Amino acid sequence: MERTFLMIKPDGVQRGLVGRIISRLEDKGFTLVACKFVQVTIEQAEFHYNEHVGKDFFPNLVRMITSGPVLAMVWEGDDIITLSRILIGKTNVREAQPGTIRGDFAAHTPNNLIHGSDSVESSTREIRNFFDSNELVNYDKGLKPWI
Ligand code: PPS
Repeated sequence: MERTFLMIKPDGVQRGLVGRIISRLEDKGFTLVACKFVQVTIEQAEFHYNEHVGKDFFPNLVRMITSGPVLAMVWEGDDIITLSRILIGKTNVREAQPGTIRGDFAAHTPNNLIHGSDSVESSTREIRNFFDSNELVNYDKGLKPWI
């Protein structure tokens, strides 16, 4: 089992898409292990997006993610880092396929609704930036594996 950090960005919250985005993740079979509604601080935003420091869009990235509350989440599943990014869709909404979250709900880049970690290293860093380890809940859904 793998864990990833997913965050519904301020545009997703403001557009009232929280429930529908969570449903997509639940429908896929992923397991929610932590969830927090937060106002991201500048320091948290700069740490979260530290791989983009120095890029021309960095100031706008920090401004957007701190512009309103976000829903910070940790989800669990087999190969979830790769699979959740496929479900989220391409960053550029012109390339985001119908059926993906961005393809179905996002009409303007960079208002692309949701962030997903792109590697195990990023997910570990991003989860720690938003959650204490005791906020991550371990539980068994009681599902039997397919035979
Ligand atoms: S890169 O350089 O290819 O790694 O960047 P990319 O993966 O395309 O984007 C990284 C994150 O930056 C967001 N982004 C922007 N935000 C605000 N303004 C502008 N102009 C902008 N351009 C890119 C993009 O949505 C990615 O955010 P996350 O949250 O990681 O999906």
